[in-house]
Amino acid sequence: MSPYLVTRTLPVNSTDADLRTDVLQGLGRGPKSLPPKWFYDARGSELFEEITRLPEYYPTRAEREILRARARDVAAATQARTLVELGSGSSEKTRILLDALPGLHSYIPVDVSESALALAAEGLLAERPDLSVHALIADFTRGLALPGTPGPRLVAFLGGTLGNLLPEERAVFLKSVRSMLQPGDALLLGTDLVKDESTLVAAYDDTAGVTAAFNKNVLTVLNRELDADFDPDDFDHVAHWDPRQEWIEMRLRARSALTVKVRELDLAVTFAAGEELRTEVSAKFREAGVRSELAAAAMELGHWWTDSAGRFALSLSAPG
Ligand code: SAH
Ligand code: TRP
Repeated sequence: MSPYLVTRTLPVNSTDADLRTDVLQGLGRGPKSLPPKWFYDARGSELFEEITRLPEYYPTRAEREILRARARDVAAATQARTLVELGSGSSEKTRILLDALPGLHSYIPVDVSESALALAAEGLLAERPDLSVHALIADFTRGLALPGTPGPRLVAFLGGTLGNLLPEERAVFLKSVRSMLQPGDALLLGTDLVKDESTLVAAYDDTAGVTAAFNKNVLTVLNRELDADFDPDDFDHVAHWDPRQEWIEMRLRARSALTVKVRELDLAVTFAAGEELRTEVSAKFREAGVRSELAAAAMELGHWWTDSAGRFALSLSAPG
């Protein structure tokens, strides 16, 4: 069996530095918000995997359908020898791509969740002993230092995760993706599409309450990492569709007036009854918007594939 390499560009104590800054900025003043990467500790990554299997959560199944139908086209168009995947999580759908890319030499999954990366890499090692797997524990919104593996390089960003960045963050992020690409390389991007409100809200507010548990898990992360005293039961999970921004906003709403202590920061955070903390946006896209955001980052959309129900899109782009 070939060994797999793990490189960490996040400092071991990155939660100390980054989380402190994010909490001070996000909870210090209203309106309150937190960046989404703090969802994904080991428990958060497990809960996300559970979300992907929920009947209401269509994006994973829709994207899998497209990958099954188009993986050969992706292989023919890119002839990739290195696959870099940003926010790879369990790499479950990625196996469809890995199996379709005949000349693939290296797979580089990138994620902040060390536990998800380790699980995925170990599974792949057993299934694909021929493949060189180089897991990168890193924040994809910071500059990435990729190992020097053979090209052409295909960068995959699946799961609709692009939509979890705010528009300004997306512009910066797409430019940094562009800087990873040389002529002959490509970007495979999964984007969830605008659709009726009830389908969207149900996908982010399932009847089994898994998404609510996932959303509240961020409070548990703050309790553990910063010695805070959030009681998750003091908050309600809210999934709100914003038709102007065309995004789902995930929020935690205080059930009553309360004060939370964040001891590591010497911070007391007060919530009014009904006050909401924004924990994530999940933007939904249209083809024209994806095309123009890519163009603004000097990439040219070449293929646009959707599932048969038109819920989700996979696009393949080249440096322009
Ligand atoms: N690609 C998988 C997982 C999507 S969930 C799928 O399609 O099912 C989003 C993933 O991105 C999680 O594994 C999370 O840990 C990771 N992630 C979120 N923000 C990140 C960041 N800033 N840098 C690196 N990984 C991040
Ligand atoms: N990338 C996923 C999405 O936007 C992440 C996600 C799914 C998520 N369900 C969630 C994030 C619930 C927060 C809460 O679809």
